[in-house]
Amino acid sequence: MRNVTIRPATEADIAQIAQISQSSMTSAWKEEDFRGALSNPQAKVWVAQEEEILGYCVLYFAADEGELPSIAVTAQARGQGIGKALMEALIKGCRSVGVTRLFLEVRCSNEPAHRLYETFGFLVAGTRRNFYNHPVEDADVMVASLSDHE
Ligand SMILES: CC(C)(COP(=O)(O)OP(=O)(O)OC[C@H]1O[C@@H](n2cnc3c(N)ncnc32)[C@H](O)[C@@H]1OP(=O)(O)O)[C@@H](O)C(=O)NCCC(=O)NCCS
Repeated sequence: MRNVTIRPATEADIAQIAQISQSSMTSAWKEEDFRGALSNPQAKVWVAQEEEILGYCVLYFAADEGELPSIAVTAQARGQGIGKALMEALIKGCRSVGVTRLFLEVRCSNEPAHRLYETFGFLVAGTRRNFYNHPVEDADVMVASLSDHE
Protein backbone atom coordinates (compact mmCIF):
# COMPACT_ATOMS: atom_id res chain seq x y z
CA MET A 1 0.00 0.00 0.00
CA ARG A 2 1.29 3.46 -0.88
CA ASN A 3 1.95 6.12 1.71
CA VAL A 4 -0.49 8.65 0.33
CA THR A 5 -1.82 11.62 2.27
CA ILE A 6 -5.24 13.06 1.46
CA ARG A 7 -5.46 16.77 2.26
CA PRO A 8 -7.45 19.85 1.21
CA ALA A 9 -6.11 21.40 -2.01
CA THR A 10 -4.53 24.85 -2.05
CA GLU A 11 -3.84 27.42 -4.79
CA ALA A 12 -0.33 26.00 -5.09
CA ASP A 13 -1.77 22.64 -6.27
CA ILE A 14 -3.85 24.04 -9.12
CA ALA A 15 -1.39 23.62 -11.99
CA GLN A 16 -0.69 19.98 -11.08
CA ILE A 17 -4.30 18.93 -10.55
CA ALA A 18 -5.44 20.64 -13.76
CA GLN A 19 -2.72 18.70 -15.55
CA ILE A 20 -3.94 15.41 -14.01
CA SER A 21 -7.50 16.28 -15.04
CA GLN A 22 -6.52 17.11 -18.61
CA SER A 23 -4.54 13.91 -19.06
CA SER A 24 -7.33 11.79 -17.54
CA MET A 25 -10.58 12.69 -19.29
CA THR A 26 -12.21 14.61 -22.09
CA SER A 27 -14.51 16.49 -19.69
CA ALA A 28 -11.39 17.83 -17.97
CA TRP A 29 -11.24 20.74 -15.58
CA LYS A 30 -9.03 23.71 -16.40
CA GLU A 31 -6.99 25.73 -13.90
CA GLU A 32 -9.74 28.38 -13.75
CA ASP A 33 -12.30 25.71 -12.80
CA PHE A 34 -10.18 24.61 -9.83
CA ARG A 35 -9.53 28.24 -8.88
CA GLY A 36 -13.29 28.82 -8.87
CA ALA A 37 -13.90 25.78 -6.67
CA LEU A 38 -11.19 26.78 -4.19
CA SER A 39 -12.74 30.22 -3.74
CA ASN A 40 -16.30 28.83 -3.52
CA PRO A 41 -17.56 28.35 0.05
CA GLN A 42 -19.96 25.69 -1.31
CA ALA A 43 -17.10 23.55 -2.68
CA LYS A 44 -14.23 21.44 -1.39
CA VAL A 45 -11.23 20.05 -3.24
CA TRP A 46 -8.89 17.32 -1.95
CA VAL A 47 -5.58 16.08 -3.29
CA ALA A 48 -3.80 12.77 -2.84
CA GLN A 49 -0.09 13.35 -2.35
CA GLU A 50 2.92 11.13 -1.89
CA GLU A 51 5.97 13.11 -3.04
CA GLU A 52 4.08 14.23 -6.12
CA ILE A 53 0.37 14.92 -6.30
CA LEU A 54 -1.26 11.74 -7.62
CA GLY A 55 -4.95 12.64 -7.71
CA TYR A 56 -7.75 14.94 -6.69
CA CYS A 57 -11.50 15.07 -6.19
CA VAL A 58 -14.04 17.88 -5.95
CA LEU A 59 -17.30 18.26 -4.01
CA TYR A 60 -20.00 20.87 -4.53
CA PHE A 61 -22.65 21.03 -1.84
CA ALA A 62 -25.88 22.88 -1.13
CA ALA A 63 -28.27 22.05 1.70
CA ASP A 64 -28.26 18.25 2.05
CA GLU A 65 -27.23 17.49 -1.56
CA GLY A 66 -23.75 17.10 -2.97
CA GLU A 67 -22.29 16.71 -6.45
CA LEU A 68 -18.99 15.08 -7.34
CA PRO A 69 -18.06 16.88 -10.58
CA SER A 70 -14.52 15.59 -11.00
CA ILE A 71 -12.15 12.94 -9.67
CA ALA A 72 -8.97 11.57 -11.23
CA VAL A 73 -5.78 9.72 -10.37
CA THR A 74 -2.64 9.85 -12.56
CA ALA A 75 -2.53 6.93 -14.98
CA GLN A 76 0.61 5.42 -13.39
CA ALA A 77 -0.92 5.46 -9.87
CA ARG A 78 -4.32 3.91 -10.67
CA GLY A 79 -5.47 0.62 -9.21
CA GLN A 80 -3.60 1.16 -5.93
CA GLY A 81 -6.38 2.43 -3.67
CA ILE A 82 -5.91 6.17 -4.22
CA GLY A 83 -9.34 6.67 -5.78
CA LYS A 84 -10.88 4.91 -2.78
CA ALA A 85 -8.91 7.08 -0.34
CA LEU A 86 -10.11 10.22 -2.14
CA MET A 87 -13.72 8.98 -2.04
CA GLU A 88 -13.42 8.27 1.68
CA ALA A 89 -12.23 11.84 2.33
CA LEU A 90 -15.00 13.21 0.13
CA ILE A 91 -17.71 11.23 1.92
CA LYS A 92 -16.36 12.30 5.30
CA GLY A 93 -16.45 15.87 3.97
CA CYS A 94 -20.07 15.37 2.89
CA ARG A 95 -21.01 14.27 6.39
CA SER A 96 -19.23 17.27 7.92
CA VAL A 97 -21.43 19.68 5.93
CA GLY A 98 -24.68 17.70 6.25
CA VAL A 99 -24.85 16.21 2.73
CA THR A 100 -26.97 13.07 2.75
CA ARG A 101 -27.39 12.50 -1.01
CA LEU A 102 -24.42 12.63 -3.34
CA PHE A 103 -24.82 12.78 -7.15
CA LEU A 104 -22.42 12.36 -10.04
CA GLU A 105 -22.34 11.78 -13.79
CA VAL A 106 -20.12 9.17 -15.39
CA ARG A 107 -19.61 7.99 -18.97
CA CYS A 108 -21.66 4.83 -19.49
CA SER A 109 -18.50 3.05 -20.71
CA ASN A 110 -16.26 4.06 -17.76
CA GLU A 111 -16.07 0.71 -16.02
CA PRO A 112 -13.33 1.53 -13.44
CA ALA A 113 -15.25 4.60 -12.28
CA HIS A 114 -18.57 2.69 -12.10
CA ARG A 115 -16.89 0.02 -9.96
CA LEU A 116 -15.32 2.63 -7.68
CA TYR A 117 -18.66 4.38 -7.17
CA GLU A 118 -20.55 1.12 -6.61
CA THR A 119 -18.06 0.29 -3.85
CA PHE A 120 -19.32 3.42 -2.09
CA GLY A 121 -22.99 2.56 -2.50
CA PHE A 122 -23.79 4.56 -5.64
CA LEU A 123 -26.64 3.32 -7.83
CA VAL A 124 -27.54 4.38 -11.36
CA ALA A 125 -30.58 6.67 -11.05
CA GLY A 126 -30.94 7.70 -14.69
CA THR A 127 -29.23 8.63 -17.94
CA ARG A 128 -28.40 11.96 -19.58
CA ARG A 129 -28.43 11.51 -23.35
CA ASN A 130 -25.34 12.70 -25.27
CA PHE A 131 -23.97 14.35 -22.13
CA TYR A 132 -20.32 14.00 -23.21
CA ASN A 133 -18.40 15.06 -26.33
CA HIS A 134 -15.25 13.63 -27.97
CA PRO A 135 -16.68 11.02 -28.25
CA VAL A 136 -20.36 11.74 -27.80
CA GLU A 137 -21.70 9.41 -25.12
CA ASP A 138 -24.52 9.20 -22.59
CA ALA A 139 -23.87 9.76 -18.90
CA ASP A 140 -25.18 7.58 -16.14
CA VAL A 141 -26.43 9.70 -13.26
CA MET A 142 -25.47 7.95 -10.04
CA VAL A 143 -26.63 8.72 -6.53
CA ALA A 144 -25.58 7.52 -3.09
CA SER A 145 -27.60 7.85 0.06
CA LEU A 146 -24.88 8.53 2.60
CA SER A 147 -26.99 7.80 5.62
CA ASP A 148 -27.23 4.18 4.38
CA HIS A 149 -23.49 3.79 3.83
CA GLU A 150 -21.17 2.77 6.65
C1 LIG B 1 -11.80 6.22 -11.61
C2 LIG B 1 -10.45 6.44 -10.92
C3 LIG B 1 -10.46 7.80 -10.23
C4 LIG B 1 -10.23 5.32 -9.89
O1 LIG B 1 -9.04 5.60 -9.17
P1 LIG B 1 -8.04 4.44 -8.70
O2 LIG B 1 -7.04 5.03 -7.81
O3 LIG B 1 -7.55 3.70 -9.88
O4 LIG B 1 -9.07 3.51 -7.89
P2 LIG B 1 -8.69 2.47 -6.74
O5 LIG B 1 -7.35 1.86 -7.00
O6 LIG B 1 -8.90 3.12 -5.42
O7 LIG B 1 -9.79 1.36 -6.99
C5 LIG B 1 -11.06 1.50 -6.42
C6 LIG B 1 -12.03 0.52 -7.07
O8 LIG B 1 -12.27 0.96 -8.40
C7 LIG B 1 -12.41 -0.19 -9.25
N1 LIG B 1 -11.37 -0.13 -10.27
C8 LIG B 1 -10.23 0.59 -10.25
N2 LIG B 1 -9.56 0.40 -11.40
C9 LIG B 1 -10.28 -0.46 -12.13
C10 LIG B 1 -10.14 -1.04 -13.44
N3 LIG B 1 -9.09 -0.75 -14.24
N4 LIG B 1 -11.12 -1.86 -13.87
C11 LIG B 1 -12.19 -2.14 -13.11
N5 LIG B 1 -12.39 -1.62 -11.88
C12 LIG B 1 -11.45 -0.80 -11.41
C13 LIG B 1 -12.29 -1.40 -8.36
O9 LIG B 1 -13.59 -1.77 -7.91
C14 LIG B 1 -11.49 -0.90 -7.21
O10 LIG B 1 -11.73 -1.57 -6.01
P3 LIG B 1 -10.91 -2.92 -5.69
O11 LIG B 1 -9.46 -2.58 -5.88
O12 LIG B 1 -11.27 -3.20 -4.27
O13 LIG B 1 -11.40 -3.93 -6.66
C15 LIG B 1 -9.28 6.34 -11.94
O14 LIG B 1 -9.43 5.16 -12.70
C16 LIG B 1 -9.18 7.52 -12.90
O15 LIG B 1 -8.58 8.55 -12.59
N6 LIG B 1 -9.76 7.37 -14.11
C17 LIG B 1 -9.68 8.44 -15.11
C18 LIG B 1 -10.55 9.63 -14.72
C19 LIG B 1 -11.99 9.22 -14.53
O16 LIG B 1 -12.52 8.40 -15.26
N7 LIG B 1 -12.63 9.83 -13.54
C20 LIG B 1 -14.03 9.59 -13.23
C21 LIG B 1 -14.88 10.41 -14.11
S1 LIG B 1 -16.61 10.22 -13.67
